[in-house]
Amino acid sequence: MIDPQFIKSHFPVFRHHAGLIYFDNAATTQRPGVVIDKLNDFYSRGNANIHRGLYGLSVNATTNYEAVREKVRDFIGGKTKESVAFTRGTTEAINVVANTYLKPRIGAGDNVVISAMEHHSNLIPWQQLCLQKDAELRIIPVADTGEVVIDAVNDYLDRKTKMLAITHISNTLGTVNPVDKMVDIAHRKKVPVLVDAAQSACFYPLEVASLDCEFLAFSGHKIFGPFGVGVLYTRPDLIEDMLPYNYGGGMITHVGFDESTFMPYPYNLEAGTPQIAEVIGLAEAIDYLRQVDKTEAIDHVSGLAAYFIEELNKIGKSAVIASPKERTGIVSFLLDNIHPHDVATFLAEDNIAVRAGHHCTQPLLEQMGVRATLRASFSIYNTREEIDRMTDKLTEIQRFWS
Ligand code: ALA
Repeated sequence: MIDPQFIKSHFPVFRHHAGLIYFDNAATTQRPGVVIDKLNDFYSRGNANIHRGLYGLSVNATTNYEAVREKVRDFIGGKTKESVAFTRGTTEAINVVANTYLKPRIGAGDNVVISAMEHHSNLIPWQQLCLQKDAELRIIPVADTGEVVIDAVNDYLDRKTKMLAITHISNTLGTVNPVDKMVDIAHRKKVPVLVDAAQSACFYPLEVASLDCEFLAFSGHKIFGPFGVGVLYTRPDLIEDMLPYNYGGGMITHVGFDESTFMPYPYNLEAGTPQIAEVIGLAEAIDYLRQVDKTEAIDHVSGLAAYFIEELNKIGKSAVIASPKERTGIVSFLLDNIHPHDVATFLAEDNIAVRAGHHCTQPLLEQMGVRATLRASFSIYNTREEIDRMTDKLTEIQRFWS
């Protein structure tokens, strides 16, 4: 069983902000002390640039940085560590795939397929590429339940489809998509698939080798790791197709004034000095997560979501946006006709942190007929008592405004 109070004791932010109720974990999780200490330790004891120095500090930094590839490979169930490239985050990883892999392979009349629930990061890179190439961006609809219409997926893919890019979990609605089914449907039509795992990587086993997706992306800061680091997984048979994204030092085999040659993926994506401390901190977050039973973690966060919805429904004049069969610990909701920003501001008075707005999914909210929502997103340090505090406050706000 998850013991939220014990877990909370690992996260220094809760000592510095006694009484903080942090329900914005979909935006970024908090960090455990071990991750913060690891960053401090690197800068205090291990700081040097990598892949360049012949002295001990640099050699050790290189060894520690490169070891993280293997750790990430194991974390996502990949086959080779060479499949793992470090990026600045999910957004950069998706931009890399759009601009290096897909750009030379897409032309006028082709199409890219996404769902209506994609975060802007998994929408705009494809939209802009399609605009440049006179290609079509096709959007698989989302039902009122907040689920992708699975029967429609097949109809949206055809011989001209160059990529299916789909989120594993909706950051706004909490819907868990059956990505394995979607990958199967796409592969039957020989369409490559990118999975946006930003919201799932923390607790949901990714198992990329058996999922067989071509690409998968996630961010460190949503899995208890540092900001500024993310992962792009590329299926081993495609790594030769991955071209440089940025050019600079650290990714070359030879440089002349007239031309240069480059290292293979993943090194060709890590130009310049990479985010060394953050990559090393990411390994610490993965080690921390290894001690957490994933099934129990999923049950805990989805159980909190179910409890919150039950309590919210008692308030009246509240509305939960979407009712997917499989939901993680993310709930978007409205309270009466009070603007979400006002509700969030009132909650903040009581030290309750939620997000209000369009959650970087403007087209999705437009489709659901709302401009903004409140979003509560739970993690393993959250409790039912915290939810009671929030619903008490929501009741008070609702009474005050009506
Ligand atoms: N993508 C993050 C969120 O959903 C920032 O809040």
